[in-house]
Amino acid sequence: MKVLNLFFSVTGNTKKIALQIDKTVKDEGHEIDTIEVTKNIDKDTIDFLKYDFVFIGTGVYIWLPPQDMIDLWKEMQKKYVKSGDIKPYAPRRVNKKAVTYCTFAGPHTGKNEATSVPEFLGQLLDHLGYEVITEWFFEGQFNSENSFYTKFNKMGRMGDITGRPNEDDLKRVDSMVKGILHV
Ligand SMILES: Cc1cc2nc3c(=O)[nH]c(=O)nc-3n(C[C@H](O)[C@H](O)[C@H](O)COP(=O)(O)O)c2cc1C
Repeated sequence: MKVLNLFFSVTGNTKKIALQIDKTVKDEGHEIDTIEVTKNIDKDTIDFLKYDFVFIGTGVYIWLPPQDMIDLWKEMQKKYVKSGDIKPYAPRRVNKKAVTYCTFAGPHTGKNEATSVPEFLGQLLDHLGYEVITEWFFEGQFNSENSFYTKFNKMGRMGDITGRPNEDDLKRVDSMVKGILHV
């Protein structure tokens, strides 16, 4: 199976998850392209349709993906409308599957403030006819010099998230990736 592992990580948390996905997919004997989205990435270097299985993840920034990821998604949507790959009714494609995920801190409303991120990321794939099988959520501590943010690592609605994602989270990723690849 050919797998795409696309992620955007401002402070490194989502990158930890993405690198674990990369390792597990390889360990399972599949081919994988891991691509880190950066501000000026050329949208033409990404073609979802080359892949049977796609993982996409970002952090959560004021309830949304980072702005650069939103901008990339808008460009990709235009690209696939123009090429005719996004069609009215979004007919399903055979054996095209995806998982979207986010890392989040959830200081105020917990998972509620993160739910729109995997949903937003998944809509591009859904428009292309992929089955978005599931959405994953991983706690990710605030990495900042500013105590305005870091105080929430110990006092948010998710409890103490210091050091997350940690080794246990990565073990969970390993196990979930192994499972989902059989769907
Ligand atoms: C400026 C800023 C805003 C954030 N806003 C939110 C938020 O609205 N909700 C949330 O759950 N986490 C929020 N976070 C926490 C990040 O989503 C979390 O640390 C995530 O794991 C970062 O992922 P990344 O390092 O891969 O970008 C914010 C972090 C920063 C620095």
